Amino acid sequence: MNFSFNYVKLNLFTIISTLLCSLSLFAGEKLGGKISEAQALRPGSAWKKDDLLLSYAKYFDEIRNKNRERLTGHLHLGLFDDNCEGKSLKELQENMIHFVLGNLRENAHALDIGCGVGGTALIALQKNPSLKIDAIDFLEINVQKARKLIHSNNLEGRCKLINLDAHYMSFSENTYDYAWAFEALMYMDQPIVLQKVFGVLKDQGVFKFCDFCIKEPLSEEDEVFIREEEFMSLLKESDYRILMGKIGFKDIEIVDLTNRIYPNFIVFYPESKAMCKLIEQGKIRYILVKATAVKSSLF
Ligand SMILES: C[S@@+](CC[C@H](N)C(=O)[O-])C[C@H]1O[C@@H](n2cnc3c(N)ncnc32)[C@H](O)[C@@H]1O
Repeated sequence: MNFSFNYVKLNLFTIISTLLCSLSLFAGEKLGGKISEAQALRPGSAWKKDDLLLSYAKYFDEIRNKNRERLTGHLHLGLFDDNCEGKSLKELQENMIHFVLGNLRENAHALDIGCGVGGTALIALQKNPSLKIDAIDFLEINVQKARKLIHSNNLEGRCKLINLDAHYMSFSENTYDYAWAFEALMYMDQPIVLQKVFGVLKDQGVFKFCDFCIKEPLSEEDEVFIREEEFMSLLKESDYRILMGKIGFKDIEIVDLTNRIYPNFIVFYPESKAMCKLIEQGKIRYILVKATAVKSSLF
């Protein structure tokens, strides 16, 4: 009797402690590690909740509608240089793509994160005849448009378009020679996505992204505007260096392109006065970040 009572007690103890342990592991995964690191780095904002994602999707839909007449196949800014007089927005956007991507290796496999309506993938495929791309975007409407664009250029054999949220990427490790994100990372939880990008890149794989960043933590008012009106959560340049360095990226190179994108707001987006003001005040900058995933020391 005593034995069976002890036996039941022991079993109950084992069950309860296993449950507690799994719960704390679960909580640890949610609250510890990368996510808490993310929140430590993040200027006051939190991990995007699903309800926020919904209004975010609506926001992108509105942008798309608002810009319908000037839809160019690209949802990122153009890059101005000395010879850009009279150039269209589309030409300047293509200028940005060539500048950011540069020359890619032969037979490379690339991941386009937040591919939008497919313009970047199209240019990259046309310029690099042996390139293959997997392109993801969490808005189905964008993926459909991108598919149409890629199909109409007979490039579907070299480009897979996937309706996927970057936070939930589960591609095999060490798959890609390149990953890039044009103005997409700033809408995501950067630490989570950067960690995933590192995982799916091959050793010596290169990640390139262009995004807005902040110089110093923003005032409460600006922070709310950026988060709630623009749906962005911006990091500092130094946050990127620390975060990417910790993850294992090396040769982190950051180029400030603020002066070269600023005219976009005056010429093509006159309605974006608030963003324009933040740029003028030097509170927000636009950067290109390039980094290499060095994994050899991990093997
Ligand atoms: C400013 S647009 C840039 C689109 C494209 N990279 C371009 O330059 O034309 C940002 C894109 O990121 C996508 N996006 C935002 N958050 C995402 C997420 N969590 N997962 C995948 N795509 C996302 C949006 O749907 C949108 O298409």
